[in-house]
Amino acid sequence: MCGIVGYIGNKNAVPILLRGLERLEYRGYDSAGVAVYSEKEKEIIVCKTKGRVENLETKLYDNPIKGRIGIGHTRWATHGIPSDTNAHPHFSKSGKVAVVHNGIIENYMEIREILGSKGYDFVSETDTETVAQLTEYFYNQTGDLQQAVFKTLEKVDGSYALGIICSDFPDMIVTTKKNCPLIIGLGQGENFIASDITAILQYTRNTYILEDNEVAFVSKDSIKIYDDKKEEIKKDVYVVDWSIEAAEKSGYDHFMLKEIYEQPKVVADSLNRRFKPDGTGIQLDSIKLGREELSNINKVYVVACGTAYYAGLVGKALIEKLARIPVISDVASEFRYKDPLIDENTLVIVISQSGETADTLEAMRLAKKKNSRILAVVNVVGSTIAREADDVIYTLAGPEIAVASTKAYSAQVVAMFLLSLHIALETGKMTVDQFKEIKKEMEKLPSHINKILTKAPNVKRFMEKYIGSKNVFYIGRGLDYTVCREGSLKLKEIAYLHSEPYAAGELKHGPIALIEESTLVIAVATQEHLFAKTMSNVKEVKARGAKVLIIAMEGNREIENYADDYMYIPRTHPILTPLLANIPQQLFAYYMALGLGNDVDKPRNLAKSVTVE
Ligand code: AGP
Repeated sequence: MCGIVGYIGNKNAVPILLRGLERLEYRGYDSAGVAVYSEKEKEIIVCKTKGRVENLETKLYDNPIKGRIGIGHTRWATHGIPSDTNAHPHFSKSGKVAVVHNGIIENYMEIREILGSKGYDFVSETDTETVAQLTEYFYNQTGDLQQAVFKTLEKVDGSYALGIICSDFPDMIVTTKKNCPLIIGLGQGENFIASDITAILQYTRNTYILEDNEVAFVSKDSIKIYDDKKEEIKKDVYVVDWSIEAAEKSGYDHFMLKEIYEQPKVVADSLNRRFKPDGTGIQLDSIKLGREELSNINKVYVVACGTAYYAGLVGKALIEKLARIPVISDVASEFRYKDPLIDENTLVIVISQSGETADTLEAMRLAKKKNSRILAVVNVVGSTIAREADDVIYTLAGPEIAVASTKAYSAQVVAMFLLSLHIALETGKMTVDQFKEIKKEMEKLPSHINKILTKAPNVKRFMEKYIGSKNVFYIGRGLDYTVCREGSLKLKEIAYLHSEPYAAGELKHGPIALIEESTLVIAVATQEHLFAKTMSNVKEVKARGAKVLIIAMEGNREIENYADDYMYIPRTHPILTPLLANIPQQLFAYYMALGLGNDVDKPRNLAKSVTVE
């Protein structure tokens, strides 16, 4: 939620800030702005506008600004409508202090009132403006920017990543964070701040990852970092190994399409590293989750949000099926507030692409407090969830830029396959021979995905046929139902179509009333032991006029008797179908969004990284 970037060095900051903001737009795109200290004018000049970074670029083209220090912001609105006035950066009363902020200042009304009584007027509806005003208020009292920032941070409650510049200190960016991500990029004679590495990857891979409550004073040649006790600290340089190409579209029309097509590689990478060289089991990096540790676990919880949660449901089903351990699943925003029954004998698996999702992070912290063992499945290396978890399985999907998650879901599902197989082997519920049989099938998954991707033109034709749909139902049973939930979310998210995923057998208990002539029902029917049952539900909706598109495994010609349209996935082991059956759903959502003229990569109202609760 909201992206921030900052530059200090010898180059003109504006183009660097703009490129960075373009890469951070996935975090929010309601408005964009930059604040740059102009040596000529001897003041900070702000340019900001409602809408996308391209609008800001146009505005800057007409009103160019130049300077060697600046901060930029792309917004996902929380306080106040998307407008020029509410866009960041926000100024203090005198214009001396400019601030960009990701997060929420919870006590901003209180601070506004206090400052209001001292003659400070507020021009925006945002919580962020209080940080700019408060910093200036303390700066006027102390004459010391460092003290002013520390004092401001003592007064604000909430979550934040902040970039602050002050015209009296044109050689310094102040930055800090609490529950929102912030990194410092280290260059030669120049330094950067950013919400994430993609914003600055073209300039540096060397970073400091700021921890909560640390405050950094960043100049072009030096960086001073203080901990929460205001003591100066040294940090290790973290070198990022993502390539810049991975963060670019490489000829694809959209990041989402590129990321869909990257899935064979992502799955191959995820598998290659994780099978033991002798083929007898799984190696989960340095995670100690062997026989002994597992003997202390009597309950498993899977906690995540959105797509990551649906990947978690695959994990739940497979741990229960293969390892016969009961697994409870919950979305993080519910888990947090229900006083969950967990203790030191509970393994809590949290799943997150970004590793920064506020609800997932807080759910994890709650579980930690209750002494549960935390295993995080995370994509972004060095993210907060990855750093705070007891153990981490990295999903190796590389940067995922499109707001709609595709390759990260696939990588999470592969992690769930591996984890459930590992637990089943370690607890003696699966033999090495049984494992080897599944492993053989897993190794074919990348080429299976490639094969499905060659059928993309068929999916495009389905889109053309069903583009007029107003409601789309997804039905399936067992593992197929988890796939339906992800398919339906994707369609809502980018095609803005009303869609419901239903356990196929549950449809007749109410929602079937919504089925009418030509309603599109997508039936996922890869679980062949449940096939006959799902087909009886297909017949029920067809009898009420629905059009049915069935996704099933190759060789199951019976679907052709029931379907208006169908799509086969290559035959695989039944536990592996949640990965393959989802690929046509991703393509369907993509083409529907495209056909409806939507912004595929940046769907309305959404942001990739949800760092507010
Ligand atoms: C997926 O398409 C969504 N953008 C969303 O549901 C996402 O999966 C969810 O917000 C969780 O994000 P995370 O994996 O970064 O924690």
